[in-house]
Amino acid sequence: MRVKFGECLIELVRGDITAQQVDAIVNAANSQLAGGGGVDGAIHRAAGPSVMEETDRRYPDGCPTGSAVASGAGELPAKFIFHAVGPVWRGGTGGEPDQLKGAYRRCLDLAVEHHCESVAFPAISTGVYGYPMDLAAEHSLTSVRDYLQDHEQPSLVRFVLFGEGAFGAYSRVLEGMTE
Ligand code: APR
Repeated sequence: MRVKFGECLIELVRGDITAQQVDAIVNAANSQLAGGGGVDGAIHRAAGPSVMEETDRRYPDGCPTGSAVASGAGELPAKFIFHAVGPVWRGGTGGEPDQLKGAYRRCLDLAVEHHCESVAFPAISTGVYGYPMDLAAEHSLTSVRDYLQDHEQPSLVRFVLFGEGAFGAYSRVLEGMTE
């Protein structure tokens, strides 16, 4: 599914984020940038050890929740990896929506700074971090749409969704944005 906002496109696909042919892919990292399972494990396995070496060297203090940092992409087809730290879901009253939106916005800022025309995101925080899928879809798509309407770049933002549930939730929200 694809929807245009001005000159920019938001696209939803099902699949594996590590296989995406885009300028930058986004990792769902933790604030220590210590690696993990899920998207993080898949990205580091596919990219090889140079990525963790680089993040250890450049970001010894990690990355705060709601933000992101950039590295090279090792053996992946992308040019960059943006390591985004989404919030752990604690019921929604601890600022989780603002933190999730902030993580997406920071990645889009990094994309512009690094001259990336295309970026692929996973559904940040919806795995181990427990963010409810419907709310994650609403908050992340709203954040990206608002950014594209304000900045008119990057040209392509692709959400790479792992399961049927994630794809359905994101599709419903994106469809609602066209009405
Ligand atoms: N490609 C795309 N999406 C994937 C992939 C993949 N290869 N693997 C998992 N997913 C999906 C999950 O199904 C989930 O919907 O990505 C979403 C995010 O899940 P997590 O990877 O668990 O990320 P998150 O909830 O943000 O938790 C981050 O988990 O792996 C650790 O180090 C990481 O501590 C951090 C935490």
